[in-house]
Amino acid sequence: NTQPHLYTFPGKAELAENLRQYILKAETAALARHDTFRLAVSGGSLPVILAEALLGDSPASQFGKWDIFFADERAVPLDHADSNYYLLKEEFLNKIPTELGTPSVHPIAEKHANQDDDPKQLADLYQADLKRTFTGEGSDTLPAFDLILLGCGPDGHTCSLFPGHGLLNEKTAWVAAISDSPKPPPKRITLTLPVVAAAAQIAFVATGGGKKEIMRDIFDSEDGRGLPSALVNQAAGDKVSWFTDSPATEGVAYS
Ligand code: 6PG
Repeated sequence: NTQPHLYTFPGKAELAENLRQYILKAETAALARHDTFRLAVSGGSLPVILAEALLGDSPASQFGKWDIFFADERAVPLDHADSNYYLLKEEFLNKIPTELGTPSVHPIAEKHANQDDDPKQLADLYQADLKRTFTGEGSDTLPAFDLILLGCGPDGHTCSLFPGHGLLNEKTAWVAAISDSPKPPPKRITLTLPVVAAAAQIAFVATGGGKKEIMRDIFDSEDGRGLPSALVNQAAGDKVSWFTDSPATEGVAYS
């Protein structure tokens, strides 16, 4: 079976517990391959769910071995409310008890980045950071993250890859910049589709009734209407797992 896995849970607590088990397995597999657990995370609702999944009483992750990258970022300062780095820090990183270890974090934007900057410069810096981490894999090879954790917008976007955008055709770059995001803010930096698809494992978290129409489009329509999240499904097949709740998958026929 090369199809993506679609898991639906009755509520957030069950989703968080299953996501915890999934992440711990991915961590164990990664640490059997190399010294660190190299993952990329998104903004949106994900940081809060990560905290719920990983900061409870259950067996903990080895956070000191985590190398955290970002699936996408906005060209804003790192302490700005729109920053995905800031969101992750506030909702998740700052809540990790020090005795559990401290992850290495690779922000995309710089401290003073802002919407006047050329996001291409930020994308180039981030790509250079990735190349330092994923060395030995050749400069032409795509980086293979151990895990990429994604959200899915009500329009089907993921990372800062938006429906119908020319960037969906990118074949070689690891990181790209856009200045025309339909969702504000307009200037963003994002991993490209080939990099997402090259990850060992990819998980989407999509919850709430606001997602049910797009979930039907992604899973039940012809080719997922070419939506960015459906393109990830097509490119990565059974490496992809969707963690959803019942309201998000109401009426979805795919199983
Ligand atoms: C961004 C976010 C974005 C998010 C989705 C889903 O930078 O805009 O990373 O891609 O993941 O919009 O958001 P929710 O998880 O809040 O539904």
